[in-house]
Amino acid sequence: MHHDLERILIDRDEIALRVHELGEQIAADLLGELDREGSAPDASGRIVLVPIMVGSVIFLADLMRQLPMKLSLGLVAVTSYPGQSTTSKGAQLRSELPTDLSGKHVLIIDDILDSGRTLAMIRSLILEQNPASCRICVLLDKQTERAEEVPVDYAGFTIPDAFVVGYGLDYDGHYRNLPDIGVLRVEGA
Ligand code: IMP
Ligand code: MG
Repeated sequence: MHHDLERILIDRDEIALRVHELGEQIAADLLGELDREGSAPDASGRIVLVPIMVGSVIFLADLMRQLPMKLSLGLVAVTSYPGQSTTSKGAQLRSELPTDLSGKHVLIIDDILDSGRTLAMIRSLILEQNPASCRICVLLDKQTERAEEVPVDYAGFTIPDAFVVGYGLDYDGHYRNLPDIGVLRVEGA
């Protein structure tokens, strides 16, 4: 599969290191929220991670194991790059949203911020439920023009405007299982 890559942009060791750092920062911030409201770190039902499926699946699995407090998951599925497209076709919700976010501390998790449409849509739907707090964490922040501005609290890496795969990110459903993040080779280039 690595033969289909033009180059590796971020390797597995760099990713692991950065995910660890993000975890520490997020854990400190969420524990701070619990402390301010007088909840214990093992208080149930206070923290909900909302990962955007499918791209965030590997990032989620690694990141959530760095968070040492009681938390639950409320998955949402969104598609914006149907089939063999490498430009956003607009975000479409493919699942129901968790319905019990009122008063909770929510952390939205996605693989990559590109046009911003996906995160802007999910964030505004979540804010309608009046959570106690709502943060956004992305592994990759693509340097490109945003269709929607999104307040990102945590970003793992800033990357150039290229189509990347691996570590959960796909092209036409494939390459999610690559342990590294790479730029896809364009045929004939
Ligand atoms: P946005 O709505 O344009 O910000 O796109 C975000 C979504 O598009 C992400 O959740 C990814 O699933 C997908 N996406 C954006 N850029 C890439 C890429 O370079 N490779 C793979 N998927 C991408
Ligand atoms: Mg996605």
